[in-house]
Amino acid sequence: MKNILKKSLALALLIYVPFNSMAWGMLGHRIVGQVAETHLNAKTRKEIAKILGSSSLAMEANWMDFIKSDPSFRYLNNWHYINFAQNLSYPQVQEYLKKDTTTNVYTKINFVSSELKKKATPPELKLMYLRILVHLVGDLHQPMHVGRAEDQGGNEIRVTWFNKQMNLHSLWDSDLIEFQQLSYTEYANAINHPSKQQVKTWQSDDMSKWVFESYVLADELYKEAEKNQKYSFRYNFDHIKTVDQQLLKGGVRLAGLLNNIFGS
Ligand code: ADE
Ligand code: ZN
Ligand code: ZN
Repeated sequence: MKNILKKSLALALLIYVPFNSMAWGMLGHRIVGQVAETHLNAKTRKEIAKILGSSSLAMEANWMDFIKSDPSFRYLNNWHYINFAQNLSYPQVQEYLKKDTTTNVYTKINFVSSELKKKATPPELKLMYLRILVHLVGDLHQPMHVGRAEDQGGNEIRVTWFNKQMNLHSLWDSDLIEFQQLSYTEYANAINHPSKQQVKTWQSDDMSKWVFESYVLADELYKEAEKNQKYSFRYNFDHIKTVDQQLLKGGVRLAGLLNNIFGS
């Protein structure tokens, strides 16, 4: 009996441990897509409907994670994040991004945006690039997607969440959001109350600002994780406002980007 128990435990671990999701979880991405839907102008809405048919930004937002195990899409694996050294100032990050030609979430948001603007881009590619754009704007607003290379954006930083062993990255991808016990539409409705001024400011922020905001937030989370790795109610209380703000900013900024691409 003991042996069977051990074996099933080993099997459970084998199945469970290698699974390390690399994005806001399903909920986070859908919330960003759902918020964005409500900030689109009429022309953009129409153009997006031509590409997605009866689907929605929310329902297409996780495509980039769904295809991760397909070898023909392996080239997309490093599109989800960007890493930086520590202690960089905003001007330093801006300077770096200006010259950046590597493959990362920032350069690829720019790439798919410009491909979506082109009339000549074929419909099936437009569908793929739109799916990618919705996903990556979400990822860029998850602080740990702008983390440090040496620990894979927090994937190698062990923490416990209500006694469950996990890592800092997936806590921010998924567990903090799931803890709120809301569906993606309930969540989007709960947070989707930006002021007119916030919408205006967020949508006119340069994308380097999006990057820097996540970078600064990630730095705080790293520092906190050096002192304490056992998290529960207090951690939720301390950080849920940040989670909500990042999801909201992600959605509002995604809509701004889409309005720029399709709306005129
Ligand atoms: N996911 C996988 N590797 C990562 C990294 N280096 N930074 C952020 N997210 C990641
Ligand atoms: Zn991702
Ligand atoms: Zn992630």
